[in-house]
Formats: sequence, C-alpha cells, structure tokens
Amino acid sequence: MKYPIPRGTYDILPDQSYKWQYLIRRFQDIAASFGYHEINTPIFEVSALFERSSGESSDVVQKEMYRFTDRRGREFALRPEGTAPVVRSFVENSMDKDGAKTKLFYVGPMFRYDRPQAGRYRQFWQYGIEFFGAQHPFYDAEVIALLWQYLKGLGLSKIELRINSVGSPQCWEAYEKVLKEYYRPHLPQLCADCQTRFEIKPKRLLDCKVPSCRTIAQDAPSQLDHLDEESRQHFAEVQGHLNAAGVPYIIDPHIVRGLDYYSHTAFEVVFDGLGAQNTLAGGGRYNYLVEQIGGKSTPAIGFAGGFERLILALESEGIQIGKPLIPDIYAIAMGAEAQEALIPLIYDLRRELVSVEYDPTKTSFKAQMKAANHSQARFALIIGEDELASGSVILKDLETGEQVSLSSKDIDAIRGAVISK
Ligand code: HAM
Repeated sequence: MKYPIPRGTYDILPDQSYKWQYLIRRFQDIAASFGYHEINTPIFEVSALFERSSGESSDVVQKEMYRFTDRRGREFALRPEGTAPVVRSFVENSMDKDGAKTKLFYVGPMFRYDRPQAGRYRQFWQYGIEFFGAQHPFYDAEVIALLWQYLKGLGLSKIELRINSVGSPQCWEAYEKVLKEYYRPHLPQLCADCQTRFEIKPKRLLDCKVPSCRTIAQDAPSQLDHLDEESRQHFAEVQGHLNAAGVPYIIDPHIVRGLDYYSHTAFEVVFDGLGAQNTLAGGGRYNYLVEQIGGKSTPAIGFAGGFERLILALESEGIQIGKPLIPDIYAIAMGAEAQEALIPLIYDLRRELVSVEYDPTKTSFKAQMKAANHSQARFALIIGEDELASGSVILKDLETGEQVSLSSKDIDAIRGAVISK
C-alpha cells in the first residue's frame, strides 16, 4: 500500500458502522433522558489549554499530545480528551452563571500518541458527559448512574464500578507527605518516570502501569485514610445516593486517574476480560478546573468512555450491537415499461422512509429474485406485465412466501404491509 492508514488508527467500515450508529444513538437517548444537551467542540485547541488543565506532568500532556504549529506560529494540539475543551467552551460562552446547572454530553474522536494495542488507539472515539453547577453528592451519583445504565442497558454483565475519593486541596499536602515517606525507601526500584513523579506529582506514582511499580503501589497509604472532614462526608453521601439509584459499586482506593484536574469523587468502570486496557470509562469531580481556565468558580463532574473498548467488551460477551442495514423492499421490474412504472414508486416509498433497493442492471426475473434474496430484504415488490395492465404491484413476503396484490398508487397500503412485519 502506497499510502497506508496512520498507525494506531482504523477505518470504520460499512460492516461495522451500524454498530457505531447504534451505540451513539443509545448514548444520545440515555443522555436525553437525564436532561443532557449535546455540545460539539473543535478537534483542536491551543495546546496551553491542555497543559493548564489535564496537567503538565500527566502522561497525556507530557508524551501523548499531537502538537502542531500553524502558519503563524501558534501552538495547537489535537484534543487528547473532551473535558478541557468543554470547560473552555463553557467559560467562553458564559455558561458559568451563578446557580445555573448545565448538563452537556459529547461524542467524538480524541487523539493520543501512545503505543497502539488492542483497545488503545491514536485516534479513538469517546462518549462523555460534563455536569456543571453543583457540589451536591446527588449529582455525583446521577452522573455515575447515567454511565452505569448505559453500559448495563447494552447488556454487559462483566462490568464493575469502582469509586474512590481523591479528596480536596485541603488534604492533599498532608497526604503527599505521607505518600513520599512511604515511597522514599523504594525510590531505587521505581521506573524512570516514577522517579520524576516522586518529585513533581507523588500521587501519580499510584497510577503507574509498570508491574514492579504496581507492586510497590499495592501497600501505599490510601488517600481515603487521609481525607478532610468535608471530603469524607461528601464521599459517604455519594455512596448513599448510589445506593438509592440502585447502582452497585466497589470502593477502590487505587483509583487516582491519569489527568490532573480531579478532586473528591473519582470512578472507573472496568470490564473483566479485556487484558490491560480494561477500563471502559472513567471520570470524576473537577471542582477547580473552571476557575483555573478563567471562569467563575463552578463545581463540576463528568466521565468519558471509549467506544472501541466498549465494542470489544460487548463482542467478548457475545452481545449483538444493533442491526446491519437491510432493505425493507427489493424492487423487481419485468421489462422496460414495468421499470418506468416502478422507479417513481421506489422514490415515493423512500420519501416515506421505507428502504428500497433496486438494480436496473439486472433484467431477468431470476437474477432479480436472486439479488432480492441476497439482500435479505423481507419483501420483493414486483411489477410484471399483468400488474402493469391493472395498475397494481405484487408484494411478496420472502420469508413466508405469501404474496398480496396492492394498487401501485396506494403507498400507504404498501408501507403499512411492510412496517407491520
Ligand atoms: P480518560 O480516563 O483519560 O478520561 O479516558 C476515558 C476513557 O477513554 C478510557 O476509560 C478509555 O475507555 C478511553 N480511552 C482513553 N485513551 C484511549 C486510547 N488511547 N484508545 C482507546 N480508548 C481510550 C478522560 O478522558 C476524561 N476527560 C474523562 C472525564 C470527563 N473526566 C471528567 N469528565
């Protein structure tokens, strides 16, 4: 191949695209049922937005950002995630009004320069939501419940919701001190990245995926044991609201999340059976980010999940993802005059959103019937000499073999017969 597709990307081919349409539609539907409105932001932003929000020390910004300079020397980056752009738009469009509650959802491609593997791509698609305007723990649970209902509603059973509290700035300093004390004697065994993390962002040590670092992280002191009173109370109330919403969860003090903006609630949904890339979705509170980006202080919480991993998980559980497009009707004409009568009828039916397939290059009845069967259409609509003479059509149910004669003018009757099946 002279111009191969970039590494870590893929085409969504026609035999897969219906799955994507289905998953996106289901997400749009559930988001609407929770009162969320769609927002679409550009796929590139000024790089500083991500440096400032996702965190300069995070892997996403340090190693994984696709950066480019435009013709006038301005620094941009392909968005590695959706939260920072949504917050930028929230502030820029003055949605940060006192007391307002804003519920936004998005679906779209994100970009991270990472080593590609199953479930990890350089261009991947996220679905996500962001809620702005309240600190109340009800909303933490509501955001999590939306994610849970979406994934459960698709039929997944091998999923687990893990929640944690990463506390608030009031307790971070004391916790970081305890964490560093724990890690100091292990420093020589840590990977090179972790040696730097120790100095810059000790909490990120807990997130390292290197096996030897993971072992050390196992016994590290937990943020949960070092929460201030307000964070402890908030976390307890979030659990109460999750119970009320009927969402099962596991408390996992090791959830720290890879981006810098989180405070209080952090959560992930993991799938049992995807290997290393088993996090289907993740999110948390980010009460300080709006202000950091230049808006009014506004508490917020959200999550995002990747469609690629979701599809892998659904397929590994043998769950059907939507239905491939199959025409309702395959149209058949016997002869040139019949074709002349048939073509306007095809457009009339399509105007009523009945899907009709027709191929004028096939002329014999046999070839057309063969194509009709191949198309898997439930019905064949046939105009032959007799039908032409009487102004009728034959609608043949290809599953049962039954057929009826209907007036070729009666679009409603044809449509009615088709949609009743
Ligand atoms: P994140 O944990 O970086 O969070 O990504 C969320 C999800 O995106 C992951 O759980 C995974 O399913 C998917 N994902 C991430 N990177 C890749 C990749 N390279 N290939 C395929 N899938 C991937 C965020 O992005 C935050 N913005 C979530 C959030 C929203 N927090 C608050 N609001």
